[in-house]
Amino acid sequence: MRSTYIVFLFFIFTLGCSKKNDIVTVVIPPTLVIVTPPVVLDTNLYKMMPFPMGASINVSLLKNSSIYNGLVTKEFNSVTAENAMKFGALHPSENTYNWVDADYIVSYAISNNKRIHGHTLNWYKSLPSWVTAFSGDSIAWESLLKSHIQNVVAHFKGKVASWDVVNEYFNSDGTVRNSIWVTKLGQDYIARCFQYAHQADPDALLFYNDFGQESSPAKRNAISNLINSFQTRGIPIQGIGMQFHINFNQTEANIMAAINFAKGTGLKVHISELDIAVNVAKIQGLVFTSAMASQQAEMYRSVVKAYNSIPKSQQFGITTWNVGDADSWIPAFQGAPDWPLPFDINYIRKPAYKAIIEGAK
Ligand code: XIL
Repeated sequence: MRSTYIVFLFFIFTLGCSKKNDIVTVVIPPTLVIVTPPVVLDTNLYKMMPFPMGASINVSLLKNSSIYNGLVTKEFNSVTAENAMKFGALHPSENTYNWVDADYIVSYAISNNKRIHGHTLNWYKSLPSWVTAFSGDSIAWESLLKSHIQNVVAHFKGKVASWDVVNEYFNSDGTVRNSIWVTKLGQDYIARCFQYAHQADPDALLFYNDFGQESSPAKRNAISNLINSFQTRGIPIQGIGMQFHINFNQTEANIMAAINFAKGTGLKVHISELDIAVNVAKIQGLVFTSAMASQQAEMYRSVVKAYNSIPKSQQFGITTWNVGDADSWIPAFQGAPDWPLPFDINYIRKPAYKAIIEGAK
């Protein structure tokens, strides 16, 4: 709700009189003035942006925190499940699927008019032990891969309009990661993932998603070769996801290199997991200062500005990886405190919030 301020103003006028050298001071009694604060205090982030703005969602916060739920509803028009659509969450044992949490996010999104981006059909992490311990031959592994992808895509068909099909297939040096999938099924299993997803929902937009594209020309090159090979062979792929887990010392040159690369693919481009860490040295007991908040805001501005240079038809949107600093995965991941998101631990807007809006102007 927009708040108003009541302000008492005292006007003191000093007037010159007609009689030479006489000065008369007139004091006008206190006046009540209603001042409406600038519109920026009551914006919805997504309404201020020329492309979709999303956040990844923690399902228990969505269920149990009305502040979190209200903020997501107000500020974003696209959502990604942070964990609820990963293999381990959806498919805990060979013959059991658990749709409860993912369905909760999907029905929340539908009733609040939010786009839902699916994350992720295939990854080397977040696998349940029945998969890591699976002892079948290559035919059984292929069937495991195919049935998981197709059951998941079919379950959400018509609701989840886009998917990260494969996540983090490459190493930073551009070689193929030696994941369990590559070990069991060979490097070209990635093409079959996209084909299986496409068969289950021909309308879904299919993305390849990875991190570190801003800092690794070798990874960009590998992704580019993958996309070219898909296109030559008629394997469906419509988008590229750049995670953008970066820190506030990242350079504009690197950001532009990633953006220009993605632009050049001609595919839809999703900044899919944006967060901007500030505790680069991983200092325990670090305190978040306003100088750090400003430097972080400038990096948010640079990312949005660069992204906005991508042609409209390729802009899938920007998604931050969760909402408020207390929800971020970064502190646990790096083993040190951090404040990587545009909202603080109390869901108050940080300087980054305004910078995101300004970056798109
Ligand atoms: C992370 C989640 O944020 C954590 O809650 C979870 O414990 C591990 O995964 N790249 C990805 C995301 O593609 O799925 C990861 O999400 C962060 C890195």
